[in-house]
Amino acid sequence: MSVKPLRECGPAARIAVIAGDGIGKEVTPESVKAIRSAITSARRQIEFVEFDWGADKFLREGVSLPAGAVEMLANEFDAILFGALGDPRVPSNQHAADILLGLRFKLDLFVNARPVELFHDRLTPLRDRSANDIRFMVFRENTEGLYVGVGGFFKKDTPDEIAVQEDVNSRKGVERIIRHAFDYARRNQLKRVCMSDKSNAMNFAHDLWQRVFKQVLQEYPEIESRHLYIDTLAMEVVRDPRQFDVIVTCNLFGDIISDLGAQLAGGLGLAPSGNIHPGRTSLFEPVHGSAPNIAGKGIANPLGSILTSGMMLDFLGWKSEGHALRNAVRSALQENFVTPDLGGDKGTVEVGDWIAKRLADR
Ligand SMILES: NC(=O)c1ccc[n+]([C@@H]2O[C@H](COP(=O)([O-])OP(=O)(O)OC[C@H]3O[C@@H](n4cnc5c(N)ncnc54)[C@H](O)[C@@H]3O)[C@@H](O)[C@H]2O)c1
Repeated sequence: MSVKPLRECGPAARIAVIAGDGIGKEVTPESVKAIRSAITSARRQIEFVEFDWGADKFLREGVSLPAGAVEMLANEFDAILFGALGDPRVPSNQHAADILLGLRFKLDLFVNARPVELFHDRLTPLRDRSANDIRFMVFRENTEGLYVGVGGFFKKDTPDEIAVQEDVNSRKGVERIIRHAFDYARRNQLKRVCMSDKSNAMNFAHDLWQRVFKQVLQEYPEIESRHLYIDTLAMEVVRDPRQFDVIVTCNLFGDIISDLGAQLAGGLGLAPSGNIHPGRTSLFEPVHGSAPNIAGKGIANPLGSILTSGMMLDFLGWKSEGHALRNAVRSALQENFVTPDLGGDKGTVEVGDWIAKRLADR
């Protein structure tokens, strides 16, 4: 079966690099190094263009996401490699919201793809589970739900205060993420799609999810479709993660269940993600934040960012290079050539150099 890439960029790709703040600035260069090393074929050309958007620029110039940035990224780049945003000097986190949420919403990156894959048995907190048991994809709706910021206060700061946060679900939004999950399963010969909601309690918003799911699944008769309420899903993912190939859910539940999944597979330092609109400029970022508590110490784990780069190369259709990055990470974990968060004593650059050499030697 021929697999169509989600972005037809051909042999040449242009990547915008936004390293951001804190450890974003430390892990992202290691990812760029790994990608360069993975691209051995002369047929492939990649250009990286760096942007200094982050807390320093915001504090210096008052600029978070510069005017025209969204259009420029959409028109001139195939993908965005992102580090992390967040700085104690900006307690409001205004720049992070402007840049990251701005790009997610304005580029309409409706798919948040969070693969959960255990690369080495010792990394899971689950007893008696091995690498073959923990491998599934979580698709979180990324542009709607409770995160759209519709709501308000009534009688704020009084004892009678009321706060309202609206859960926005459009038929178009629900349908496209559910369809994406089924298409992904079909493209990758995966057998099972589980849709999760809370339709027993959220009887308007998630009634829509139910109806759309039942309609879309008819088009994928070869795939086993299943529904679980989100509370049951949380229990089942821990009890027996082998049940799942693809999970699709709304913005809030996807945020939570994918973090649970990340912990099953080794934690924040290893978790990659993609913010995707198939066919358009999409953004790839490790799940972790800027980790101010370890920033500048040279000990941040770069493997989450490198796995993120693997997802980005898959998205571009450069499957063999994406695969090579994942294999190099697997080898580093097998040989325990890792940073302190995974029990090792190596530094960020040391691990990055090791990965780059491994890729160059292959
Ligand atoms: N997408 C993003 O840019 C993003 C995501 C989450 C948090 N943040 C921001 O990051 C800042 C810090 O947030 P936080 O502390 O809640 O989350 P965090 O992910 O930055 O850190 C949580 C813990 O995990 C550790 N950690 C994270 N990544 C690691 C890595 N690669 N290697 C080793 N250890 C790692 C940190 O040292 C810390 O102890 C905040 O400003 C927050 O808003 C940004």
